[in-house]
Amino acid sequence: MSEFYLVMKVIKDIAAMQRFALKAKREGKKIGFVPTMGFLHEGHLSLIRKARQLCKKDGIVVVSIYVNPTQFGPNEDFSKYPRNLERDLKLCKSAGADVVFTPTDDEMYPGKSQGLYSVYVVEEELSKTMEGASRPGHFRGVTTVVAKLFNIVQPDVAIFGEKDYQQAAIIRRMTDNLNFPVKIIVAPTVREPDGLAMSSRNTYLNENERKQATVLYRAICLAREKVASAKSPLNAADLKAELKSYIEKEPSARLDYVEFFNPDTLKPVEQVKKGDHMALAVFIGTTRLIDNGRL
Ligand code: PAJ
Repeated sequence: MSEFYLVMKVIKDIAAMQRFALKAKREGKKIGFVPTMGFLHEGHLSLIRKARQLCKKDGIVVVSIYVNPTQFGPNEDFSKYPRNLERDLKLCKSAGADVVFTPTDDEMYPGKSQGLYSVYVVEEELSKTMEGASRPGHFRGVTTVVAKLFNIVQPDVAIFGEKDYQQAAIIRRMTDNLNFPVKIIVAPTVREPDGLAMSSRNTYLNENERKQATVLYRAICLAREKVASAKSPLNAADLKAELKSYIEKEPSARLDYVEFFNPDTLKPVEQVKKGDHMALAVFIGTTRLIDNGRL
């Protein structure tokens, strides 16, 4: 918590948030920003603490909590996405936030239901594979809302999680290509003690599914071991088939995709070697989980 703002502020209005941010900037304060969809866990909190560190005592740490409808597909979990603002606000405060921005759909997408909202930000290269292929329109929603949030919050630095590796790469590209004066920091994935990556969606899992959900992390570790012990690069298609059968040994698990790619370009590789990156999406029952890691 900065010394200047003794109490954490909650701002709902876009105009009020923008005024606050522009004033802070005029006063020479650095703004650190962590965009989230709420239902916060240690992964989110690690990003807020990182922002606090980067902004030191006199900077301003802003967290947004907004379940962005445009990044959900029509048959996805937008309406049942977990929400608990009161709990989130306490967690934001404990992690060192100065301001929590909680806009409404009506303000973020004015006139959308009457067809009056028609401008989107689209990344056309990195968003074609993996999450982009499985969830059409998802990244269009993400880049649009993050661009809007950058315009509203005016951050100097924004922190994203490696948990959503492709998302972070796309936001970096958007920031660079559209000249947002924002430094993008990507922080490591925070995991449960058994390896499961923390996610707001883990709350959908029942006890039995929760146990099976460690299979995403175990699959990454297995691939990592195979690559490390191989004398030459491994054929990607063979490794994918092996991981699919390993994952689907869990009774409730169904592989959506697993991909091996260059960590910088996100281009798929056909021969997998140490230093390549792996990402996967798996349904555990009806819950879709993602994870990734360096091989
Ligand atoms: P959300 O899923 O709430 O995640 C907010 C931020 O927390 C993202 O940068 C995400 O990568 C990071 N995060 C999630 N789980 C993490 C973990 N286990 N360890 C470290 N970081 C983690 O990602 C979104 O929201 C939205 O797409 C958003 C960027 C807010 C745009 O709507």
